[in-house]
Amino acid sequence: MASNELAQGMEQNTISLLFGHPDSATLSTPELRDAMQRIISSPQGYTALQYGPEQGTPGLINFLVEKINREQSLSIQPGNLMVVAGSTHAVDMLARLFVEPGAVVLVEAPTYADSIHTFQDHRIELCSIHMDENGLIPRALEKQLARLHASGKVPSMLYTIPNFHNPTGSTLSETRRSEIIKLAHQYDFLIVEDDVYRDLSFEGSVPASFYALANGKQVVSIGSFSKTLAPGLRLGWLLGSEDVVQCCINCGTTQMGGGANPLVAHIVAEYCRSGSWEAHISRLQSLYKLRRDVALSALSQYMPSDVRWTHPAGGFFIWLSLPENVFAQHVKHMALQAGVSLAAGVGFFVDPFAGAHNLRLAYSCATPNDIDSGIRILAQVIDKSRNVER
Ligand SMILES: Cc1ncc(COP(=O)(O)O)c(C=O)c1O
Repeated sequence: MASNELAQGMEQNTISLLFGHPDSATLSTPELRDAMQRIISSPQGYTALQYGPEQGTPGLINFLVEKINREQSLSIQPGNLMVVAGSTHAVDMLARLFVEPGAVVLVEAPTYADSIHTFQDHRIELCSIHMDENGLIPRALEKQLARLHASGKVPSMLYTIPNFHNPTGSTLSETRRSEIIKLAHQYDFLIVEDDVYRDLSFEGSVPASFYALANGKQVVSIGSFSKTLAPGLRLGWLLGSEDVVQCCINCGTTQMGGGANPLVAHIVAEYCRSGSWEAHISRLQSLYKLRRDVALSALSQYMPSDVRWTHPAGGFFIWLSLPENVFAQHVKHMALQAGVSLAAGVGFFVDPFAGAHNLRLAYSCATPNDIDSGIRILAQVIDKSRNVER
């Protein structure tokens, strides 16, 4: 593959455990290509090349409403859902429309680095909440809320990744979700759940969503086709109260540009209607579960005894905690020289000094052999990196 054909950020001749990309080999399926062909050569293709309805392509909205109601035992209406250009578009729009000037957004520590970036683009003050291996800690959230209120600051929103978290791989229990919902009602903030990994569960069921547990009150849930179909489609959805959805429909950029990616939305609706997505998701679950298993077994086999890691029940990521005398930036640098790329923890925190002893390992787009070799090399690098700061 020519280097200019590599996916965003990928390096040639390097084992990449760096990015949470889906495996490239899963992206262009015959079923998706068929749906493209059918739409392009049908009258719908012609319509889809026009500006689309602001809320999104109705065929896709109806499909998603039916799927979400069936899978989550909900009774949402089409007015609760809007098609967006991926989770990124939704986070950006919610930050723009629902965070008052001078208000604070609460985020997990650590959290998805590009969400930090997106909130910061809007000059939003971020406030971090501690996590443990089971996700966001409600008691820590409560303490932070009390502290913020005492200092006259109003949190507008909590941004959380409850399932198969990026970067830690953790999943928040239903009990914790319910405690957090109580706090949202008490302190009057919006919960934004970024649920892009929900369908990539390896162990069966996933806890009920914040949206389901709160009956839709003060929750916006975000889904995406990026992880279970293809990120290049730039397509996702946002689920919220009719008021929230209407506000997103009425905003300037939606009014100016119309609904998100109409041509792609028509293609994806056609693809989904054929039943292909469900079968594809179940193939992906097996593929990524195998990679997770290979990664966990390589970690047990090769890692020094003072390194700890998470055990994700789905998604793409494992989070490593290194001993105090091993610095993640140094390990990252040395690992790259040895042919393995991965992410140092520091970029996933609002606090620039946090994450110095953490690494994120993504097993989604490396082969099982590469995962095993990459982790073996990484273990050697970690052992050689003791007491070397960078
Ligand atoms: C938690 C999280 N949210 C959002 C995204 C980006 O999603 P999309 O491609 O739908 O914008 C990612 C991708 O890594 C992610 O990990």
